[in-house]
Amino acid sequence: MTVHFIGAGPGAADLLTLRGRDLIASCPICLYAGSLVPAGVLAHCPQGARIVNTAPLSLDEIIAEIAGAHADGKDVARLHSGDLSIWSAMGEQLRRLRALGISYSVTPGVPAFSAAAAALQAELTLPGLAQSVVLTRTPGRASAMPEGENLAAFAATGAVLAIHLSIHLLDKVVAELAPHYGADCPVAIVWRASWPDQRIVRATLATVEAALGAELERTALILVGKTLGSEEFAESRLYAADYDRRYRPIGPVPRFPEAS
Ligand SMILES: C[S@@+](CC[C@H](N)C(=O)[O-])C[C@H]1O[C@@H](n2cnc3c(N)ncnc32)[C@H](O)[C@@H]1O
Repeated sequence: MTVHFIGAGPGAADLLTLRGRDLIASCPICLYAGSLVPAGVLAHCPQGARIVNTAPLSLDEIIAEIAGAHADGKDVARLHSGDLSIWSAMGEQLRRLRALGISYSVTPGVPAFSAAAAALQAELTLPGLAQSVVLTRTPGRASAMPEGENLAAFAATGAVLAIHLSIHLLDKVVAELAPHYGADCPVAIVWRASWPDQRIVRATLATVEAALGAELERTALILVGKTLGSEEFAESRLYAADYDRRYRPIGPVPRFPEAS
């Protein structure tokens, strides 16, 4: 018996890996983490599967479900939105399963930040503007931030910030970032990226609060950084006509002669 942790993706049912789909189809029990896991993903469960929304359950109750499946020898598909490597609460479940001697596998999913970047049709790292993306959040009721991990510290690097779980604190986000990025720094808010009702608001740190209005709450990502919407960036050296590289040796004495 195995518990298969599967990243269910950002919302669109077809942004699920083939491996994730096949594992869901093979498991008689599916535990899924609330409304962010789309019905179209659950549709891959086999007929007659036990399908449980774990949003109202405590960790103890979730583990009890899994322990029951283990006793019955039934595989479990455990679905969390996006990818499992960030804000999925998978870590604490894996620790409990290790203590119980229950085996598990982990299958990645498309994270919300990359679905948001796709919605914006944007490359977040552009030569000369930003070469780092920080996936972060602001403190929440259930999760304090470790000391040193704050927006101002990340902003000091000039990296592109993908700020999760924070749309309700947009005013604080703007106040913390404006001194570092400048009021004219581009911001994009992507609400429910890849869902049918996806919405995008493009603005600057100065204008984003007015542009957003009051209606876009919860499942939204705040992206901040110079690369958003900029045409003022260098082309990458990798594809430059005169750049000598392993797969395209240039000149009389190429750097990688063995490849030519
Ligand atoms: C608990 S975290 C889950 C993150 C998820 N594990 C991932 O890989 O993206 C939930 C937060 O992710 C962001 N999020 C999740 N799905 C989203 C989507 N489809 N569009 C925009 N933001 C999303 C929002 O900031 C939301 O508050």
